[in-house]
Formats: sequence, structure tokens, C-alpha cells
Amino acid sequence: MRVLGIETSCDETGVAVYQGGRGMLAHAVYSQIEIHARYGGVVPELASRDHVRKTLPMIRQVLDEAGLAKPDIDGVAFTAGPGLIGALMVGAALGRSLAWAWGVPAIGVHHMEGHLLAPLLEEPAPEFPFVALLVSGGHTQLVAVAGIGRYQLLGESLDDAAGEAFDKTAKLLGLPYPGGPALAALAEQGDPGRYRFPRPMTDRPGLDFSFSGLKTFALNTWREEEAARSDREQTRADIARAFEEAVVDTLAIKCRRAVRQTGFPRLVLAGGVSANRRLRATMDGALAKEGARAFYPRPAFCTDNGAMIAFAGWHRLQAGQTEPLSFAPRARWDMAGLAPP
Ligand code: KG4
Ligand code: ZN
Repeated sequence: MRVLGIETSCDETGVAVYQGGRGMLAHAVYSQIEIHARYGGVVPELASRDHVRKTLPMIRQVLDEAGLAKPDIDGVAFTAGPGLIGALMVGAALGRSLAWAWGVPAIGVHHMEGHLLAPLLEEPAPEFPFVALLVSGGHTQLVAVAGIGRYQLLGESLDDAAGEAFDKTAKLLGLPYPGGPALAALAEQGDPGRYRFPRPMTDRPGLDFSFSGLKTFALNTWREEEAARSDREQTRADIARAFEEAVVDTLAIKCRRAVRQTGFPRLVLAGGVSANRRLRATMDGALAKEGARAFYPRPAFCTDNGAMIAFAGWHRLQAGQTEPLSFAPRARWDMAGLAPP
């Protein structure tokens, strides 16, 4: 079965075709960074309009690259939520319409299930059951995964998501949108010994997170140093480094705990922040102490993309699951409410 996947939940347009037994036949991602950069964050209306412009030409391009014609597609998967409602509606309406016109089934995919399954596209793929750490711009969740659609929430952020904390801290340090990768790059120049930020909520049991205090900690440090600052650039890098290490350590401590608690020796990392190199290195070391192993998507499949949607949709479509014509996208959608296909 060949499935066309369409992702339009935020500021990336992603399109891909996945075929069972063969893998990803073609995929393309277009990022709207330039459109939103001058506003310092995503402007939902501009995101929707740009998805309208880009999605159909990208579908044509991906089908061409894969050497496919319309009749070669056996199903269409589109991101149905959670995300920006106008942006979601573009991909959902287009995906649903194409499926109807082509006479094939369609399915609305949960964006975070897409992220969660992305590491299964790599070799070796992790076997079920595993723990998943989902770290994106909108979510920080630890999930026990028994199989597709069998998700139990173990813990989540009580305030800012990890990616959101990266983005906000980057902004207050004067870095351009999107802040996560920029802050990570700046942290490379930072002195790890100069500041030590707290590891929030690691001193008590449980698997929930809280990252908003770190952003404030970074802001206060930056302000305190302002008067006495001799080397502005170095101070900025040192704060970036201390912030990144605090987030990464906190995530690793909780992941270790989740692995111990579930007894699952495998942990999957997914979502935009899983592209972070320090996070990967720290996580590998922390899990090794538990005799567990971490699995990651390739960097291009960490951030939003169509491949993960095609793949997640393929799993459900080939099991016979489809959506009715009336299916509506959802800005908010709890992943724990998903069922197996
Ligand atoms: O999964 P994603 O592309 O979109 C959402 O579903 O939210 O994640 C985007 C988030 C942003 O907050 C971005 O700053 C963060 O992932 N991010 C990173 C890195 N690359 C992307 N954060 C830290 N280090 C990175 N290398
Ligand atoms: Zn995402």
C-alpha cells in the first residue's frame, strides 16, 4: 500500500509517499521561517495562506520524484491535529478531497503520533514496548507505548514545552526565530562552568516537567550581569550553555526514571528538540546506566515533516481504519484518547 502524507499543522509544509515494504519513496519539506522571522514567532493567518500556496505544488513534486501518477496512490494521510486550526484545515481539506477524487481511503493522523512513530523509520527500529519522550514546540510528554494507538501518559510539562522554553529563552537573549537551533549553536561557545541553572522538579518523585522557571532564571541572570558585563557575547553564550544543560539534564533524569519505572529497556526520542545534539549524547549516557537504549529519528524527521504522517497513516490505513468524509481537524487533541487501528 502506497500512502501520500500531508503535514500542515504549523509552519512547515511536509509531503511524502510511503510504501509498505519499500519505505519512503519521496519526501519534501518547505519551511516558512522567512515569513514568520520578522514577527519573532508564527503568525497563524500567514501560515495558513502559505500552506494554501505550497501544498498542492509540493504534492505534484513529490509524486514526480517518486515516479508515480495519481492512480498509484492507495490512501491519503493528513495531519488532523493538534495544531493551528487554519493551517490544519488546509492539509485536511486538500487530503480529504484528493482521496475522494482518487477513490481511495483517507485518514486524519495525530501529529504527535506521527512524531512518536518516526524513529521506527530508522534501522534498527525499536520494538514495542518502549518509552517515548516527545519534545516539540508544543509538547513535552513521556509516554509508555505498548503498540500503535496504545499510549499511556506517564508525565508531561505543567507549563512551557521544552521547545517553547528554548524558543522563549532564545528570544530574550536576542536570538532570531526559531530560537531552539540558534540557542543550541550559541551554547557550543559557552563555558559550562560559569553558571549552574536548577534541574526543575527532579528533587521529587514523578515524571512531570516544568520549564518556565528556567526561562526566568536565564532572564534574571542576563539582567544581573548587565551592569557588570564586560564581555556581552561570552555571557550570552554562557547563559545559553547553562540553560541547555539544565533542560537536557532534566529530560535525561526523567527518562531514566521512566525506563526504571516501566521496565522497558528502550526509549524513543521524537519531536523538534530531539534534534538537539547535547540531548542525544546526554540521553545515551543516562540510559546506558539503566541498561537501556535510545532511538532517534534522523534529524530531518525530528522536526515537522510529511514522512512521519505518511508512515503513521500507512499503519492505520493498512489495518483498515479510515475517516468519514465529514472528518474535522482539531486544534487540541489528547493523544491518550487514540485507539489501536
Ligand atoms: O516538532 P517541531 O518541529 O514542531 C512542533 O510540533 O512543535 O518542534 C519545533 C521545536 C521548536 O521549539 C524548536 O526551537 C525546537 O523544536 N528545536 C530545537 C532544536 N531543533 C528544533 N530545540 C533545541 N535544539 C535543537 N537543535
Ligand atoms: Zn511537531
